[in-house]
Amino acid sequence: MAGMICGTGSYIPSYTMDNNDIAKLVDTSDEWIRERTGVARRHIVRQETTVSMASEAGKRALECAGITAEEIDLILVATISSNVILPCTACEVQKELGAVHATCFDIGGAACTGFVLAYNTAAAYLSGGIYRTALVIGSESLSNLTNWEDRGTCILFGDGAGAAVVRADEKNCYFPVTHSEGAKGMALTCKSRCRNGEGIPEEDYFIQMDGQAVFKFAVKRVPEVIREVLEKNKLSREDIGLYILHQANRRIVEAVAKRLEEPIEKFPMNLEEYGNTLSASIPILLDELNREGRLKPGHRLVLVGFGAGLTWGAAVTEWR
Ligand code: UT7
Repeated sequence: MAGMICGTGSYIPSYTMDNNDIAKLVDTSDEWIRERTGVARRHIVRQETTVSMASEAGKRALECAGITAEEIDLILVATISSNVILPCTACEVQKELGAVHATCFDIGGAACTGFVLAYNTAAAYLSGGIYRTALVIGSESLSNLTNWEDRGTCILFGDGAGAAVVRADEKNCYFPVTHSEGAKGMALTCKSRCRNGEGIPEEDYFIQMDGQAVFKFAVKRVPEVIREVLEKNKLSREDIGLYILHQANRRIVEAVAKRLEEPIEKFPMNLEEYGNTLSASIPILLDELNREGRLKPGHRLVLVGFGAGLTWGAAVTEWR
């Protein structure tokens, strides 16, 4: 599939909660959270919504790519935390940006794998010659779906959005690898969106997670899928500049680096500042690396998402 990222953007809410703020809500500590997850603080929406963050990140990505909203043919938004069910976030972004020629839809439910699946979907459309320019966004206001009395989840998540402009490019042609295992889906759930359903337990409105099960799944499946995507594209580890992993937990990233026998420097991280932002974590990290000048032309990147479903997948792309 042929898709070249030619611009990135992100939006992070200014309001923050550090670990000490969380320790006022549940029985935990700054030391425990830092040591077990790598998270120091997370940014939380106040006046922002999933749509407003997605739109701002999208706008910044267009500026970065130097293109106008009218040039976009496709807008895809990966999210599990849209503030409304209809219209979809992508159509709302279209309205905000004035991207009048775009076809728009959301990739919902794929959570932490959402951005990789959205990128793959865009790249497939671009490869097929159906569209030329796509705007791919991950945006989450997870604080609305967080049970602030559950220390197993509220320590981890944060809000934010990231975006990438992807253009058709025949030279940047790589096959992705993706997997799903529905039989293990109960490890990470958010069961109900209808607050008027009688007899629905309060916790079902929030994200619930068997943290250990998801952790074990991630440290096994992520190295596997990276090896698989390298093999499929006839690449070796030396061909890869950076691995852009979903920012779930610092210990997961470290375990993956170790299992692949790759230096940890090839696995940039920013979860100390933002926590785990699900579908937004990969594009936020990409945008930071881009703006810091850490992505060089010809630099090969492996994007890896993993999480609810269970789902996981990897995509290779070359920097412009
Ligand atoms: O992005 C979506 C996918 N999600 C993930 O990838 C998340 C994967 N899972 C994780 O990141 C980790 O499992 C967590 C950070 C959620 C939990 O860390 P853990 O190292 O797996 O902790 P644990 O559940 O094994 O608990 C270890 C101990 C337990 O105490 P005992 O039984 O050893 O006395 C827990 O009760 O730590 C206790 N504990 C806590 N203590 C302080 C659990 N959560 C907390 C807490 N603060 N927040």
